[in-house]
Amino acid sequence: MSKTSNETIIELKAVTKRYGFGDAESFALHNFDLEVKCGEFIIIMGPSGCGKTTLLNIIGLLDKPTSGEYLLNGKKVDRISSRKKARFRAKEIGFIFQNFNLIPNLSVIENVSLPLIYSGHHKIRRLKKADDILEHFHLREREYYMPHQLSGGQQQRVAIARSLISDPSIILADEPTGNLDSRSSHIIMEELRDIHAQGNTIIMVTHNPSLTTYATRVINMLDGEIDTDIKTVDDSELPHPGDPEKISVRILSKKQPVELGADSNTKAVFSGERATIENEKLAKEEPIEETEEKTKQDKKSKKKFNLAEKKIKKKAEKDKQKSNTENKEL
Ligand SMILES: Nc1ncnc2c1ncn2[C@@H]1O[C@H](COP(=O)(O)OP(=O)(O)OP(=O)(O)O)[C@@H](O)[C@H]1O
Ligand SMILES: [Mg+2]
Repeated sequence: MSKTSNETIIELKAVTKRYGFGDAESFALHNFDLEVKCGEFIIIMGPSGCGKTTLLNIIGLLDKPTSGEYLLNGKKVDRISSRKKARFRAKEIGFIFQNFNLIPNLSVIENVSLPLIYSGHHKIRRLKKADDILEHFHLREREYYMPHQLSGGQQQRVAIARSLISDPSIILADEPTGNLDSRSSHIIMEELRDIHAQGNTIIMVTHNPSLTTYATRVINMLDGEIDTDIKTVDDSELPHPGDPEKISVRILSKKQPVELGADSNTKAVFSGERATIENEKLAKEEPIEETEEKTKQDKKSKKKFNLAEKKIKKKAEKDKQKSNTENKEL
């Protein structure tokens, strides 16, 4: 999907979400208008029950409004077929939830590679991509662990890795730091800042006012409506995707500091390296309980990974030979 900054990516017009009828009627969203520009980092706050999750679910195509209009990239969502919507969701939207939503009986690497199933990649390629992204998050050593063997912060970083694997341009996060201590929250926020600095659009719900420093816009909701809406960064200063390279490729390379605009309330300069250093600290400092079961799991993991790696190498070798032969034939 090609996009530039200042382009409207999401537009809600008088969106209402009603539950129940008659006396039991209630509105999770009421005549809700919202225009989101590409590259915004929006933080949504408001009391419990004011409609924040409902809003994210509608934006993320997981729920439908009762009335009103939703335009995604200028297209009316209710005119898009369910198949196209599902494909768009899988490719362009990354979800991060408060309770991580990892699948308990799948290993870390399997969880992360899961969204790629919809993209039709071969399993080896899916695992390789998941392995690359887990390396960035300093979780490679734990890729064959099961989710319950990780700390909360690590689980959330796995969930972020999973949400990024299909190179989405919109990240929707529903209280992603809600279950984390302040140090882990900070690391997660630095990751989100990094993702945002590369021109992606982030809409995040939180109850924590101190996190608003990361946002370019803060919306306070009340009873299904917008109470206040404050932009702290001018639209012209929003980061934009620049070259067409996508996150999964770029997060593996060293990043240049990205100017967010000197007038902004957010920190003026972001260096991607800082997040990496923090991650390294977390990876080192967060001890995971050493048990016999873990050691066994570790050995099993290594074995499994070595096997997968061998397969990848073999396939790469074959591909190389094939392309050599083809070149000769040409
Ligand atoms: N399936 C449902 N049936 C009936 N009412 C619902 C349903 N889902 C949500 N609601 C109602 O819609 C309103 C908004 O819910 P929502 O989950 O969006 O709130 P929220 O702002 O995310 O709250 P929290 O901060 O507690 O997560 C609430 O009053 C809730 O009871
Ligand atoms: Mg909620």
